Amino acid sequence: MPPSLAQEYKSFMPTPTIDTHNPDHSISLPHPSEALQAELAGHIEHLLAHWQDALANYEYDGAWLSAGEQSLYFQDDHGPKFKANPYLSQWVNREYLSPGSRLLLKQDQRPILFLHAPTDYWHAPPPLPDELNDLMEVRTFAEPAALLDACQQAVHGNPRMAHIGDESTDNEAMGESNPTALLDYLHFHRATKTPYELAAMRLASDVGAAGHLAAAEVFTAGGTEFDIHMAYLRASQQAEIDLPYGNIVAINEHAAVLHYQHQQRHQPRPARSLLIDAGGNYRGYASDITRTYTIDIPANQAFGALIDLMQSHQRQLIDAIAPGMSFADLHAQMHQQLAEVLAQSGLVTCSAEAAFSTGLTEKFCPHGLGHLLGLQVHDVGGHLADDQGNAAPPPANYPSLRFTRTLEVDQVFTVEPGLYFIPSLLAELKQANAPVAWAEVEALQECGGIRIEDNVRVLPEGVENLTRDAFTRQSRA
Ligand code: GLY
Ligand code: MN
Ligand code: MN
Repeated sequence: MPPSLAQEYKSFMPTPTIDTHNPDHSISLPHPSEALQAELAGHIEHLLAHWQDALANYEYDGAWLSAGEQSLYFQDDHGPKFKANPYLSQWVNREYLSPGSRLLLKQDQRPILFLHAPTDYWHAPPPLPDELNDLMEVRTFAEPAALLDACQQAVHGNPRMAHIGDESTDNEAMGESNPTALLDYLHFHRATKTPYELAAMRLASDVGAAGHLAAAEVFTAGGTEFDIHMAYLRASQQAEIDLPYGNIVAINEHAAVLHYQHQQRHQPRPARSLLIDAGGNYRGYASDITRTYTIDIPANQAFGALIDLMQSHQRQLIDAIAPGMSFADLHAQMHQQLAEVLAQSGLVTCSAEAAFSTGLTEKFCPHGLGHLLGLQVHDVGGHLADDQGNAAPPPANYPSLRFTRTLEVDQVFTVEPGLYFIPSLLAELKQANAPVAWAEVEALQECGGIRIEDNVRVLPEGVENLTRDAFTRQSRA
């Protein structure tokens, strides 16, 4: 009998010397997750009731939610990965949504999903959303013109419709475009997550934690920023386009650049510190996680001690979380505690009270304590005081605070205090003769800075820490 193709290959191919599969370090998630499927019907039911209230409040008969169109780079025939409108992907996992798809919501009517499923031999079409068959009417169209035609026919009479999505020509006729009052209402309520969303965010946290654990190992083993980035992708089983945001992989002074965007391929000198801010994506929901590490040698002792202080600083803030409190107050508490950290580690020559009251701490942490998290990494509605659209702007001295609201059960947000040695801000302090212990600060400048970022869900008492729970699960996995 002639050898089979497999046998022929076997004799031809050399035995691999690298374990390219690496199963011990990569996350493997059930697909689809049973925990998530169990919650999907309840989630759609909740959205339906919520949208019916929203439309009734603002006197709309219905709404169109359009996925959007694929954009292209200037004078080019390719562009960024298509990412469907999050108002729609709250209903339909964005992996099912190709450009041009739309959802029709009408009072007292089942939602109708008009899915664009092109016959295309250049690209693989998205899978069909079988999981939605019992929850909405799903119609598929190969041609965009046929889809638009069917949309027009689905709406009879002259109803008052809202359209949520890109303001393209095709959408002009679909209804009032992105009405502010309706959007404010939707944004405000998106802060609290349904059980389905929480299940997705737990899985997104698992994805991120698996990546972080591998990244820490590669850093300790002497890897470059690029090596760490690649280990993160592999272990979290994400390609770069799957990431909820670009990885921040910052060795040494790069950690002082808050959104450092490169991955250096070589190590100019021994690594002293790593700040890695990297997330996971599951069905369009994000985790947003930061950890800071050092190499445990005598030269890094002071920086290691500072990381320990920042860890307890972050835990103290999380322990203070309770429904009814204002996140802006928690942000102010962060600065008060940071002043203690600076005084305790001898980085300032004044008292903690003075470091706080003079605003000195703002030069060591110029960003906000956290932000809402969900379908968008910096999720919408962080500056809304209520669902009527009244604003809760950030305090004048903390303009970069993205989340100022009163905390409520089932809100999910980040808690990410930082302490950085940012050259331009240190120069301002020097110029102003600020009470800074310069020798100590300059010795640490090469380590860049520290950020510890977890994602939490508010409970009636305390929080569910999505991030730390995921690290525990993944360390055992
Ligand atoms: N990853 C960006 C942030 O922490 O807000
Ligand atoms: Mn982050
Ligand atoms: Mn964040």
